[in-house]
Amino acid sequence: MEPEKKTQTTSEQMTDRDLSEQIKKVTKDSHVRAENTELMLSFQKGKVTLPQYKLLLCSLYEVYQALEEEMDRNSNHPSVAPIYFPAELARLEAIEKDLEYFYGQDWREKIVVPAATKRYCHRLRQIGKENPEFLVAHAYTRYLGDLSGGQVLGRIAQKSMGLKGSEGLSFFAFPGVSSPNLFKQLYRSRMNSVELTEEERNGVLEEAVRAFELNIQVFDGLQMLLSVTENELQTCSTHSTPVNTLQIP
Ligand code: HEM
Repeated sequence: MEPEKKTQTTSEQMTDRDLSEQIKKVTKDSHVRAENTELMLSFQKGKVTLPQYKLLLCSLYEVYQALEEEMDRNSNHPSVAPIYFPAELARLEAIEKDLEYFYGQDWREKIVVPAATKRYCHRLRQIGKENPEFLVAHAYTRYLGDLSGGQVLGRIAQKSMGLKGSEGLSFFAFPGVSSPNLFKQLYRSRMNSVELTEEERNGVLEEAVRAFELNIQVFDGLQMLLSVTENELQTCSTHSTPVNTLQIP
């Protein structure tokens, strides 16, 4: 008698049909491109500067605000519920703490983001309203990234900027996750449990590539903002138009 074919998958036993495998595969090239942005290279070389990190935190604040608001609002949606882990993953409060540390109590008035960040947030809010099943692509891109390379980047950032203890680095800490690797396994198995039609699955995969692209554009936008503000500070110290979204790609 033929042995019974296994169609059931567990976290250890992935198949080509698993969303977690497919999403990793389709975003592989995008991941390489994200790693090679100027900002991420600064991190990897141990040369991230305080202005770079502070601007990154500003953008992450807006991005996680949009992502977490949409996740909360759709937490009962069948494609969101299995991957909804606010106690373990939510980043917004941690980022707020870091921003207060660097900018002081009136940090909200000092947030500066490139136009790319506004576009990323706009997309998050749009899919939160129109296609909540695509949120998994964005949650995967940010949270699994934060639990992977992000852990190393936190230690590098601390050294590069000479920060004492963990102050200003709450963003990288996940006190609700004792083992990032085990948690990632659980997260992948939850992703694989989401029921999607073929069309929805393709949409999610496309959205994941888009999520990486949006992140890359934010990183590039930040770098341009840094070079513009550096030039402005040098050439035009009296001109102080209050801008918090510069029209830079
Ligand atoms: C996974 C490094 C930037 C998203 C990983 C892993 C490493 C890594 C070592 C684990 C790979 C594995 O377990 O097979 C880095 C480094 C970066 C970087 C060094 C930059 C300095 C990013 C960025 C994003 C991102 C900017 C997205 C915005 C992800 C995701 C995963 C991941 C989603 C999980 C892949 C999976 O297991 O499916 N990264 N990463 N990474 N990274 Fe990155």
